[in-house]
Amino acid sequence: MDIFNLFANRSKYFILFLGTFLLIVVAVINYVVGKELNFRILYLIPLSLITWYAGVRPGLILTLLCSILEVIIKIKHGFEHTHFIFFYVDGFVTFGIFAAYVLILWKLRAALDEVQISNEELKKSNEIKNEFIELAVHDLKNPLSNIIGLSGIINEEENLKKGEIKELSRRIYSSSERMIRVVNNLLMNREIELEKLRVNLEQFDLIPIIEDIIDQNKSAAAAKEISVNFNSSDKSLFVYADINLMSQVVDNLLSNALKFSPKGKNVWIRAKKLQPEEILNGGLNVKIEILDEGPGISDEDKKKLFGRFAKLSAKPTGNEHSTGIGLFLVKKFVEAMNGKVWCESELNNGAKFIVALTNR
Ligand SMILES: Nc1ncnc2c1ncn2[C@@H]1O[C@H](COP(=O)(O)OP(=O)(O)OP(=O)(O)O)[C@@H](O)[C@H]1O
Ligand SMILES: [Mg+2]
Repeated sequence: MDIFNLFANRSKYFILFLGTFLLIVVAVINYVVGKELNFRILYLIPLSLITWYAGVRPGLILTLLCSILEVIIKIKHGFEHTHFIFFYVDGFVTFGIFAAYVLILWKLRAALDEVQISNEELKKSNEIKNEFIELAVHDLKNPLSNIIGLSGIINEEENLKKGEIKELSRRIYSSSERMIRVVNNLLMNREIELEKLRVNLEQFDLIPIIEDIIDQNKSAAAAKEISVNFNSSDKSLFVYADINLMSQVVDNLLSNALKFSPKGKNVWIRAKKLQPEEILNGGLNVKIEILDEGPGISDEDKKKLFGRFAKLSAKPTGNEHSTGIGLFLVKKFVEAMNGKVWCESELNNGAKFIVALTNR
C-alpha cells in the first residue's frame, strides 16, 4: 500500500484534526492509566500524521507539547523511577526521539516537495513541446501541400504560358519560404528551451542587413500592395550584436507588420544612432523602429504579446500562417544581445515595435 497516497485526497485540516484528536486520546489514556512508558510508541502515530501533512513546523510544536505533557504525567505518576534524576533523563530522551523523528520527516517532506516541483516543470515543458510540435506539423502541412499541388500543375499541364509558370513558381517559392521560417523558429525554440542559444556578438553594419530582409519580404509586401519605406539618418549604422539573430528579429517584426496590416497600407522601418541625451539605460544607443498602419494592439493584448504561442486579437489579413512564436523569439534574441524590445501601440492606430541595442 502506498502510505503517501493513503490520505492524499483528504483535506489538510482533516488530517490535522485527526492527528490532534489521536494525540489527545493517547495523552488522556496515559494520564488516567499512569503508565506512560507503555504508551510512548503510540505518540508516533498521531505525530506522524500531523508532521507529515501539516508541513512539519506545527509538528515540532506538538512534539514539544507532547514532551511537556509527558513530564506532567511523570510528575503525577513518577513513582516507577528509583531516583528522581531518571525521570528527567527519561523526559529528555523522549524529547530527543520525537525531535529526531520530526527532523527526518522534515527532510523527507522537503525532498518530496522538490520532486513534485521538478515533476511539474517536466510536465509543463513536455506540454509546451507537444503543443509546438502539433503547431509546427500543422504549419508545415499547408505549404507542403501547396508545393506538391503547384509543382504537380507545372508537371502535368502541357500548355502553360510563361507568365502562368512564373506565377506558379512564385507561389512555390513563397510556400517554401514559409516552411523555412517555421523550421527556423522550431530550431530556435529548441535552443532556447535547452538554454543553448548560440550568440556570437560582433560589430557590424545594420543597414545592409535590413535591406536584405526587406528584399526577402518583397513578394509578401507586393501581394498586399503594402509599401515598405526604409530610411536611416546614417549611411552605415554599426551595432554590437549577432548577425543571424538580428536578421531574424527584423524579419519577424517586418513580417508581422505585413501580416497584420490590411491591403494598401504603409510600413516604415527607421534605424538611427541616438544622440547622447537620448541614450537609454544600459548604454543602449542604437534604435530600430518598425511601424505599421494595421489594427494596433490593445492594452490587454500587450501583456501577452511576447509570450510563447501568443495568438492575439489581430489575425493575419492575407491567409498567412500564425504560430504565435515570433515575438517570443524576438524578445529572447534581443535580450541575448543585451538589448531591449518593446511595443508602443493603440488599438486601431497601428503598431510600433522598437529594438534598442548598443554599438560596442
Ligand atoms: N504589428 C502587429 N500589429 C498587430 N498585432 C500584432 C502585430 N504583431 C504581432 N501582433 C499580434 O501578436 C501576436 C503574436 O505575434 P507573433 O509574431 O509572436 O506570432 P504570429 O505572427 O502570430 O506567428 P509567428 O510569428 O510564429 O509566425 C500575433 O498573433 C498578433 O495577434
Ligand atoms: Mg510573427
